[in-house]
Amino acid sequence: MSVTIRRARPYDVDFLVELVTHEDVEPFLAAIRAKGRDEILEEVARSDGDPEAFGIFLIEVDGERAGTIRFERASKRSRIADLGVLAVHPRFRGGKVSDTAARLFQRHLIDDLGFHRAQLEIYGFNERAMRHAERAGFVREGVRRKAYWRNDEWVDGVLYGLVAEDLDDES
Ligand SMILES: CC(C)(COP(=O)(O)OP(=O)(O)OC[C@H]1O[C@@H](n2cnc3c(N)ncnc32)[C@H](O)[C@@H]1OP(=O)(O)O)[C@@H](O)C(=O)NCCC(=O)NCCS
Repeated sequence: MSVTIRRARPYDVDFLVELVTHEDVEPFLAAIRAKGRDEILEEVARSDGDPEAFGIFLIEVDGERAGTIRFERASKRSRIADLGVLAVHPRFRGGKVSDTAARLFQRHLIDDLGFHRAQLEIYGFNERAMRHAERAGFVREGVRRKAYWRNDEWVDGVLYGLVAEDLDDES
């Protein structure tokens, strides 16, 4: 099984809409994220037009669309990227596709785009995603307690980060 990542193109939008609205994906993503076709098309255009500041990526398995992951620059001066909207389509679950994709994405952000730090936040109820983040090398850094109103209750946001030095230590 070969897992690869590439920047999303306008012809990927139907797949992206189906993925982010799927019943085993939508409840786990930030409530404020764009989920409509036009909004996602606009985001894909932005990813193309300003590739150092924003990026929507496709995760592929043996060349077939399997998931998505994205980043947005949070600080130019300190070279910080916020990661988000990681999702693997349920058809491709169980093979740890997201672990490989996250490792490729970390390398792309740090080695190719020059970021020093990649950070993300996971809802406290999303244990599956937290297990993934730890397997992929992100370090748990803290908790924003009862920070978000999601699925009819206040939920924690668990913070993870990875810095360039963490990758140096591995190689
Ligand atoms: C988090 C996510 C990206 C991980 O995807 P993945 O790479 O396929 O992860 P896994 O292969 O580990 O499968 C997920 C879990 O389901 C189990 N599983 C096994 N076979 C499975 C199957 N056929 N279908 C679904 N899950 C299966 C896995 O063992 C794993 O359990 P674990 O967490 O105890 O290891 C994916 O679950 C997802 O898209 N979730 C919804 C969106 C989300 O939560 N995003 C993160 C937001 S911060």
